[in-house]
Amino acid sequence: MRSQTRNNFAAMIISLAGLLFLLPALPCPAQSPRVAATPPMGWNSWNHFAEKVDDAVIRAQAGAMVSSGMRDAGYVYVNIDDTWEGLRDAQGFIHSNNKFPDMKALADYVHSKGLKIGIYSSPGPKTCAGYEGSFGHESQDAETYAAWGIDYLKYDLCSLHDQMQTAGSPEAAHKVMVDAYVKMRDALRATHRPIVYSFCQYGFDAVWRWGASAGGNLWRTTGDIKDNYDRMAEIGFGQAGLAKFAGPGHWNDPDMLEVGNGGMSAEEYRTHMSLWAILAAPLLAGNDLTKMTPETLALLTNREVIAIDQDPAGKQGDRFSAEGPMEVWVRQLADASKAVGLFNRQDHPLEMQADFRALGFSGAVKVRDIWQDKDLGRMSGPYKVRVPGHSVVLLRVSQ
Ligand code: GLA
Repeated sequence: MRSQTRNNFAAMIISLAGLLFLLPALPCPAQSPRVAATPPMGWNSWNHFAEKVDDAVIRAQAGAMVSSGMRDAGYVYVNIDDTWEGLRDAQGFIHSNNKFPDMKALADYVHSKGLKIGIYSSPGPKTCAGYEGSFGHESQDAETYAAWGIDYLKYDLCSLHDQMQTAGSPEAAHKVMVDAYVKMRDALRATHRPIVYSFCQYGFDAVWRWGASAGGNLWRTTGDIKDNYDRMAEIGFGQAGLAKFAGPGHWNDPDMLEVGNGGMSAEEYRTHMSLWAILAAPLLAGNDLTKMTPETLALLTNREVIAIDQDPAGKQGDRFSAEGPMEVWVRQLADASKAVGLFNRQDHPLEMQADFRALGFSGAVKVRDIWQDKDLGRMSGPYKVRVPGHSVVLLRVSQ
């Protein structure tokens, strides 16, 4: 009897060990649960430099990310967007073009600054700027990225769209797209390097519904942002209803930041930062970090705004109410407080109000105005405040 028990026990240990051995091979929802526990923060070359990005630019941005204090505020990824790609060799391995003489050395340099490095490709044969894409070379490219020391991949639909259009039906087109993203997910997993996997397919086919199961750590929900209020607002306020699809390891991505690129006023950039923080959006600066004004740096590095974006509960906020141009957005935070944004989409001031009872609080609440860096004390009634045009009053409210 005793030996029977021992045998059962031994059999149990053996099957447990077998299970543990198999575990890494079992499917898991995102590319890697080890990355993007909070929305990725960093910088990307596209919004400011577009095709004028090279090795020197990346080194300079990495340097500025550290010297400006951005790294210490939480910005980590230095992401090279399109136009780094060179030709493939006889074996099919991709090489960088002459703007990037040694990708491995560049990655080592970025890592030596305590930062991480990202790269860009397309599931199609060509990228959006017409460079070499990963189509048919997914495993080789993932291996190459891992060998270089890459930590983040933005995978941009681009020319795969042509193949989708000839697929015969919307369902077949959808399958072409999803299969292509899954293929690179598997190729990245096979490298065993933790690499953030960022989908860029402009929100097609409600990507928030299938992005996580296809391996995305984040997925663009819209077409490209531009450095003007109308486009930024169209994208940002257009995120209403998507909150439930985001969470640790898998985020909605309303595109990169334009803060500091010059096309919006300080109040408009304040709206941009506040809304992205409530949306638990990736914060990827898109300006020239070597030439920031103190005002731009202050907008990008406000610790309390970043704390909302990076809140450990990872619950994306959503629109609470809209009354013409007056929108109230709310995000539940881990410590039971709430971030409340009173947004005025009109171009001149409006009086707005935060009704704390309607927002789910009872009795008196403690209110802090984040951009004013001011505790407003305890309030038992609604808070009325004048909100400048195209701007926001961002509050942190606790019971
Ligand atoms: C698409 C993407 C942009 C950028 C460019 C590069 O437009 O949406 O973010 O990556 O391609 O060509």
